[in-house]
Amino acid sequence: MPLPKAELHLHIEGTLEPELAFALAERNGVNLPYADTEALRRAYDFADLQSFLDLYYALMAVLRTEEDFADLADAYLARAAAQGVRHAEIFFDPQAHLARGVEMGTVVEGLWRALGESEAKHGVSTRLIMCFLRDESAESALETLVEAKPYLHRITGIGLDSAEVGHPPVKFREVYEAAAALGLRRVAHAGEEGPAAYITEALDVLGVERIDHGLRCVEDPALVARLVRDRIPLTLCPLSNVRLRAVDTLADHPLPAMLDAGLLCTVNSDDPAYFGGYAGDNFDAVHAQLGLKQEQLRELARNSFVASFLDDDEERRAR
Ligand code: HPA
Ligand code: ZN
Repeated sequence: MPLPKAELHLHIEGTLEPELAFALAERNGVNLPYADTEALRRAYDFADLQSFLDLYYALMAVLRTEEDFADLADAYLARAAAQGVRHAEIFFDPQAHLARGVEMGTVVEGLWRALGESEAKHGVSTRLIMCFLRDESAESALETLVEAKPYLHRITGIGLDSAEVGHPPVKFREVYEAAAALGLRRVAHAGEEGPAAYITEALDVLGVERIDHGLRCVEDPALVARLVRDRIPLTLCPLSNVRLRAVDTLADHPLPAMLDAGLLCTVNSDDPAYFGGYAGDNFDAVHAQLGLKQEQLRELARNSFVASFLDDDEERRAR
């Protein structure tokens, strides 16, 4: 039995497996510039975050209808459940779909078709987190929040993703304030490729409750001390960090040192179709290649529930 765990850093568009991409392409009459699934898989050789994002956004062309988003989410939930995921807080990128003429309602209601039946069908509770693309303008983020207003009963929180360097958290101060006033929870990617200062800024200016990635906090001892003191969760993604070359090899990952420092670390899959594994695969990899002991794996699983947006009763039931 895999360890029961919550997954807190997961982009639903990053769960699009090549087989499903081709099936949806056929269903929607979309032409993919790859001969077959093997040729597509061969393209998953990334130099950095941007080279991944270019393919990630291009493949979204196959996602057009509510049914497509439902099929995508249902396939993820089935795979996650098989690897011990009991609760999933799922990112989606509405701006990437709106820009292609796919409406907010198609995305949210499509995802909800799968999320709404996930507890009964897969034993996985869910939350939805709407991310803003940080390489788009602050105005676009504000417009997206307005666009989402009819669907906020489905959306628990907001996040910030896409190309990090050159797009500091402060750019999104206004939309984070507006989201907080609407009662939305707040997280943000910071310190993946960007500097530790972006983590500090996300906490101070955006008021985030969790940091997604946060890997580069290790470069700033005062920040590490603050994250430990304030019990700010970090949603780390070890296999992603290897594939996007944030670390040279998994053996170089600072996760063991981060746990030793007392940081509230969690382990997640980020974009599992692209990075070589789902949540359980990430747990297996840090066990096999980073030498984490069973007790540390249990700590990571425990942390994932503590860091989740579940309330205490829901948390007890999920564990
Ligand atoms: N980082 C930033 N943006 C993203 C990622 C990521 O790992 N995955 C999907 N969008
Ligand atoms: Zn991410």
